[in-house]
Parts: sequence; structure tokens; C-alpha cells
Amino acid sequence: MNIQNLIEQAQRAKTFSYSPYSKFRVGAALLTEDDEIILGTNVENASFGLTCCAERVAIFKAYSDGKRKFKAIAITSDDKNFCPPCGACRQIIWELCGDIDVILVDGAGNHKIFKASEFLPFPFGDENLKGV
Ligand code: THU
Repeated sequence: MNIQNLIEQAQRAKTFSYSPYSKFRVGAALLTEDDEIILGTNVENASFGLTCCAERVAIFKAYSDGKRKFKAIAITSDDKNFCPPCGACRQIIWELCGDIDVILVDGAGNHKIFKASEFLPFPFGDENLKGV
């Protein structure tokens, strides 16, 4: 896995951000099992609740193209701190991507690698639906 390239693609995705309300640009780059990279950026709306995070845009794009297996996702913003995935995105990453590497990249380009499971301890999943 070329981490530097994935980071650069997340930084590129960030430049496509539609975030006129928060001005908080986020970029995501999702690496498929066959080394394709799918970009996502945050897309906001004047009806704020309709906003979709960069991670979910990338994952839903990938699923819509028939991709189902992934190795990693890189996430970046302009902030000096890392931009960790929000709660909704943690749930989506866990169910739709599994325990992939989650690479957080700060605004200066420094990165740290986590596992998706680190962001979602004691997850709710399809197993929980079988007990009723
Ligand atoms: N945002 C993301 O794209 N990903 C996250 O994990 C955190 C938040 C976006 C949503 C919104 O457009 C802006 O950042 C501020 O919350």
C-alpha cells in the first residue's frame, strides 16, 4: 500500500469540498482491495442536516460501483489536529468496509494509522438483528 499516494489523493479530494456553511473542508480517499482509489468530499446543504461527510460519500460511491472489499481510508481536513470520523461514519466504515486501516492526516500532512475497530468498540451490527 502506497500510503503517501493515498494521503495525496485525500488532500486532492478535499479541494473539491462543498462546504460553504462550515468552511470545514474534508477529503477522503478509499483504497479498494485491487488498489483503486475512490475519492470523497463533504457535501453540505442549506438544510444543514442533509450534509454528507467525506467518508460516507467515498464509501457509497465505491458500493455504487460494485466495490465491496477495501484496505484503507485516508481522511484529512485543513485543521492542525486530526479529523477523526464522526459517529455515523464510524458505523458506516465498520459495516461496509470492515476492520480496515484508517489513516488520519492533519492539515500539515502528518499522519497516524488506526484500525476501524479502534473507533467503534462494542459495535452494533447484523449479528445483533438475529437475536429477536
Ligand atoms: N465532516 C466530514 O466530512 N467528516 C467527518 O468525519 C467529520 C465532519 C464534515 C461534515 C461537515 O460538512 C463539516 O465536516 C463540519 O462538520
